[in-house]
Amino acid sequence: MPFPKDFLWGCATAAGQVEGGALEDGRTPSIWDTFAAIPGKTYMGQTPAVACDSYHRFDRDLDNMKKLGLNAYRMSISWSRVLPEGTGPLNQKGVDYYKRCFEKLNEAGITPAVTLYHWDLPQVLEDKGGWVNRDSIEWFGEYAEKMFRTFGDVVPMWATVNEPIATYVGYAIGAFAPGRHNEAEGNQARHNILVAHGKGVEAFRAVNPKDSKIGIVIDIWKRHALTDSQADHDLMVDEDERNWKFYTDPVLGGRYSDYILEHLEREGTLMHIGPDDLRLMHLPIDFYGLNVYNRVPVTTDRQARADYTQGGNFMNNASEYYPKAISDAVRMINKMYDLKIPIYVTENGTYAVGDEPVGPDGIICDDDRIRYINGFLSELETVINEGCDVRGYFLWSLMDNFEWSAAYNYRFGIQSLNRETLQTEWKKSAYFYRDFIRRARGL
Ligand code: BGC
Repeated sequence: MPFPKDFLWGCATAAGQVEGGALEDGRTPSIWDTFAAIPGKTYMGQTPAVACDSYHRFDRDLDNMKKLGLNAYRMSISWSRVLPEGTGPLNQKGVDYYKRCFEKLNEAGITPAVTLYHWDLPQVLEDKGGWVNRDSIEWFGEYAEKMFRTFGDVVPMWATVNEPIATYVGYAIGAFAPGRHNEAEGNQARHNILVAHGKGVEAFRAVNPKDSKIGIVIDIWKRHALTDSQADHDLMVDEDERNWKFYTDPVLGGRYSDYILEHLEREGTLMHIGPDDLRLMHLPIDFYGLNVYNRVPVTTDRQARADYTQGGNFMNNASEYYPKAISDAVRMINKMYDLKIPIYVTENGTYAVGDEPVGPDGIICDDDRIRYINGFLSELETVINEGCDVRGYFLWSLMDNFEWSAAYNYRFGIQSLNRETLQTEWKKSAYFYRDFIRRARGL
């Protein structure tokens, strides 16, 4: 059976990675503007100040979406563009920008799938303690409510938060904004953002925008033990618990695992959990957004690691080609939480480091990306045929963009970006994706 007729075929981007216009029309800096300005934090000190300039070139993006035959587009709102103080009065110019984007998408028959928080906390809120401060739950609730009231009639699909793990990477590991290195703060921050998600869901139900749905996006990087040893098994369990179950357990299952609670307690980094927190985190949602890129093999055994590295199926960027990551994740999540809501694959894609080769026809020849997308889509089709309720696929990404700490050096786009002229150009994978969608949609 082919993909369902009403399946959503999209590309995904995020405000902090494509918009630019960092300080225009009343926008204030986000934590990523601040972080990128600190020497050594991003590749070559590159910043998101201009990025793909989508703030001024949304029509260029829209034109490409039409040519690709997309019927959905996943984007995010920059919190500090619409609420420059983080809370309080709306910035009309920021609101107008998004209103125009959403209306144009709708006119083109492209469903806007909008994420409220894709990692770009207003710096003014970070100055008040950021996600470690419990007030962040209320700040987000206010922001969410304002967005639902403002755009509820033009946005049929909302996600509260994209990949809550990014708060942990930002507050505990320091590799992402705001660049703090404190395990206990990281745990508190990632807990708070999940409760904030719940506040967002609560606000959504209160505003109750007509014909609109709410979900969350959580990434799954399933660990695979490379040997049968107890040590590898334990490592796999530990990493699964900390890296994605930390988020899926409370949101989809209603509780943190005993494993997490016991381990964090023992490590002295257990977060404060308020009396109403678990209820909020577990409020019913309408869909689960799955970001999936790869599996993660783990082992304590050097030889097993070497064998895997030599024997595996790798791409030019040195990451493994493992398309079953997508079908494994869909089956596993359905089973673990007895999921009764549809899944949308909200991100999937692969990258090249630095410039990609150009073919004799002058077009970037990204055969690895084509192989990757084709492999993942074929696995996705398999699980849909098995009866799993997956209703959309958003390719990351519409174009090369600001890839966080790796800045413009990691290229995830099916279009390249000329950083001088700010023009985009189709890679071979864009033609491939267009043709795939045409066939799937029967166009
Ligand atoms: C994030 C994107 C990012 C992509 C590729 C996801 O984790 O949501 O913002 O660009 O992966 O690394």
